[in-house]
Amino acid sequence: MKNIVLIGFMGTGKTSTGKLLANRLSRPFLDMDKKIEIENNTTIAEMFQQYGEAYFRQKEQEMIVKAARYTNAVIATGGGAVLAEKNVAGLKSTGVIISLTASLEVILERTGRRNTRPLLNCPERAEKVAHLLSSRRGLYEAAADYVVDTSQRTPQQVVDLILSYLRQGGYLRGRS
Ligand code: S3P
Repeated sequence: MKNIVLIGFMGTGKTSTGKLLANRLSRPFLDMDKKIEIENNTTIAEMFQQYGEAYFRQKEQEMIVKAARYTNAVIATGGGAVLAEKNVAGLKSTGVIISLTASLEVILERTGRRNTRPLLNCPERAEKVAHLLSSRRGLYEAAADYVVDTSQRTPQQVVDLILSYLRQGGYLRGRS
């Protein structure tokens, strides 16, 4: 059975949606960022600080290779997982890709709740988000099999939409 892979910008709800979706489908949940942190015994923020972004991107790429060995899982990626073409090909080979989106305002509000994201730990956070979002939007769209705007939806509503898409596409083979 194919994996269900969630992609999207920071603050679009990949982790909360992924947990809930995995729960509803009784499937394992893989949070790639969390797994990178556990395997390297550090936080992503510390990784960026100590070794730089390129080092983290290397770990992220290795994790995508590992994720391709999973089956039947719900996988939440980090927001930058689509930056390398190789990653997108790897993710596509492992399953169906669901892209979560949200408006700039909602992303700013959600990502402002915690300061665990090294890319957004800067004085001009709003400008940085707007810039990253516009440079990445096309990448998320190109990689996606299905897109859900989470701005005005509860995680439950987002999961319901994803489930109905998966059922219609025959990805669940009559389950759930
Ligand atoms: C990143 C997103 C983060 C994390 C890292 C880099 C990005 O994950 O992988 O801080 O480049 O967009 P979330 O999207 O889960 O916040």
